[in-house]
Amino acid sequence: MLELVFATNNAHKLEEVQAIVGNTFIIKSLSDIDCQDDIPETGLTFEENAQQKTDYLVNKYGLYCFGDDSGLEIDALNGEPGVYSARYSGSRDMEKNIDLVLERLGDNPQRTARFKTVISLYLNEQQHFFEGTVEGRIIEQRRGIDGFGYDPIFIPDGYDKTFAEMTADEKNRISHRAIAVGKLADYLKAK
Ligand code: IMP
Repeated sequence: MLELVFATNNAHKLEEVQAIVGNTFIIKSLSDIDCQDDIPETGLTFEENAQQKTDYLVNKYGLYCFGDDSGLEIDALNGEPGVYSARYSGSRDMEKNIDLVLERLGDNPQRTARFKTVISLYLNEQQHFFEGTVEGRIIEQRRGIDGFGYDPIFIPDGYDKTFAEMTADEKNRISHRAIAVGKLADYLKAK
């Protein structure tokens, strides 16, 4: 059976992807291949960062693999926080990162935004990208306690609750990550 390395040590992400892909492929994490390296993420786009992860594994281990990068793009902030989503305020403290977004947006009525995930896959000497996007808007104050990251301030289009007010199942049905992973899974299943 074909093995693919997922450039992550996030057990939750790994389980989610394995569940969607099913048993057609065995997916291994970085720790499964004894990789403790801090893989660089210095790109200016999600594509570049996702590909940096697969390039790193291909160059060092010669393995078939995939890697992802995600973030929040806010139109009125020229696409920020974007690739800087995890450390927008200079720290990984999400309270500070959310505060900075709300401060920069102020009472600007233009609050459209999207979450985006890009997956880079390297398989059979070929590079592929899969993208998932969920459009929505940023509200003025946090709502909800579930989820992570910017979930409390993001309402997806067609809903009246934030990602942080949804159950994990509800969010997973519509999220950017689920869409990108679904495309990856469809591609792999067709192989
Ligand atoms: P990653 O590339 O999946 O690790 O995402 C990078 C950063 O984007 C995270 O640290 C979060 O701040 C933000 N982010 C990505 N996906 C989500 C999401 O589904 N909800 C909220 N924040 C997210």
